Amino acid sequence: MADAPESREQWGSRTGFILAAVGSAVGLGNMWRFSYLTAENGGAAFLVLYLVLVAAVGLPVLLAELVIGRGSRLSPIGALAHYGGSRWRLLGGLFLASGFLILAYYSVIAGWTLRYALTALGGFGPDSGAYFEQVSTGATAVGWHLAFMALTIAIILGGVNRGIERVSIVLMPLLFAIICGIAIYAATLPGADAGYDFYLSIDLAQMLDFKVLAAAASQAFFSLSLGMGAILTYASYVREDENLPNEAVIIATADFAVAFVAGLAVFPLLFALGLESKVGESTLGALFITLPSAFHEMGFAGQVVGTLFFVALVFGALTSAMSLLEVVVATAIDQLGWGRPFATMALGSLCALLGVPAALDLDVLGLMDQIAGSLFLVFGGLMLSIFVGFVMPDPVGEARQGAEGVRWFGAWRLLVRTVVPAVLLVVLWQSIRALG
Ligand code: PHE
Repeated sequence: MADAPESREQWGSRTGFILAAVGSAVGLGNMWRFSYLTAENGGAAFLVLYLVLVAAVGLPVLLAELVIGRGSRLSPIGALAHYGGSRWRLLGGLFLASGFLILAYYSVIAGWTLRYALTALGGFGPDSGAYFEQVSTGATAVGWHLAFMALTIAIILGGVNRGIERVSIVLMPLLFAIICGIAIYAATLPGADAGYDFYLSIDLAQMLDFKVLAAAASQAFFSLSLGMGAILTYASYVREDENLPNEAVIIATADFAVAFVAGLAVFPLLFALGLESKVGESTLGALFITLPSAFHEMGFAGQVVGTLFFVALVFGALTSAMSLLEVVVATAIDQLGWGRPFATMALGSLCALLGVPAALDLDVLGLMDQIAGSLFLVFGGLMLSIFVGFVMPDPVGEARQGAEGVRWFGAWRLLVRTVVPAVLLVVLWQSIRALG
C-alpha cells in the first residue's frame, strides 16, 4: 500500500481549498440539472425535499469524505485501504470508474455550454429546438467536447496549487456574482411572479412521492460531488489543523445557495416570457432549448444576459471537471507512481475518448448520467456511510482535530450510521426499479 509521500502537494490557503471544493460542487449540477429536476418534480416540493436531503444525507457524507481524505493524505483507493484494509480498494475502484464515466459525458454537456456562450454573444436565432439538435450531437458536439477536455487537462497539468486553486479563486466569485446579477435582473421583468409561484409555493403531496425523493437524493450527491472521492481527494491536500466540520457546512451552503439563486434566475425568466408550458416537458436538453428562446425574445438584453449565463455555466463546469479529472490523476500518481504530466495527458485523453459516444448520441449520454451520475454515486455514498459508521476506527476523533468548538459530532455519527444508509438504500432500490 502506498503511504502518503512527504512531498504531497498542498493548498496554498484555507480560502483556496474552500473555493476549490465549492468549485467542484458548483457546476452543471446546480444550474442545468437542478433546474430541470425541479421543473420535472413539481417546483417547490422538490426544492424543500432537496434542502432536507442536503442537510441530513449530503452534509454527513461530505464530512466523511473530508475526514478520510485529510487523515490518509491519499486518493480514494489508498485512502480506503489505509483505514479499512485492502478489500476496500474495490470501492475506490468504483469511485474511479464513476469519475471516468461522469467526466466523459459531463464534458460533452460542458462542450455544448461553451458553444452556447459564443452563440449567445451574437444572439440566439428563433428556432432554439433546431439549434439544440445541431449543437448537441454529431461532429460539432464531439469537437466542443474535445475542446473542453483540452482546457480541463491544461489546468490539471498545473497541479493542485498553480492549477486548480488559482483557477477556482478567480472563477468562483465571478460565477456567483453573475448568477446573482441575473436573478436580480429577472426580478424586474413583468410576469416574473408566476415563476416565483411555481418555484416557491409547495405542494405537499408531491413530497411523499418516492420518485421525487430518489431524484432529490441523487441530485444532492451529484451536486455536492459526493460518492466518488472528489471531495476526499481535495481534502487529501489540506493541512492538519483545518476545521473540517465548518468547511463542510460552508461548502454545502455555498452549493445550495448557487442552485437556489440559479432557480431564482431561471424560473422568473421563463415564466415572464410565457415559456412555462415548456417547463414541464423537461428532458435533458430542456434548459438548452427554453432558455435560448427566452434570450432570443429579449433582444439585446438577451444577448447580454444569455452570454453571462452561459459563461457562468462554463466556469462552473470547468471547476467541476477539474475535480473529476484530479481524482483519476491523483490515483495514478499515488498508486502507480506516474508523474503528473503523463497521468494527466494519458487519463485525460482516455476520458475524452470515452465521451465520444455520448457526444454522438443523446440516449447514450442520458444512460451514462443515470448509471454513473445517479446509481454509482448513491451506491458510493451508501458504502462510504457504512465505512465511516462501522469500519473506520475513530472517525469522530479524526474529525475533531482542528474543530474543538464544534458540537455536532454525536449527530454526525448517528446520521452516518442510521439515516444516511437507510435513505440511500430506499433511493437505490427506487433507482434500480426505475432503470429496469
Ligand atoms: N458537482 C458537480 C456539479 O454539480 C458535478 C460533479 C459530480 C463533480 C461528481 C465531481 C464529482 O456540476
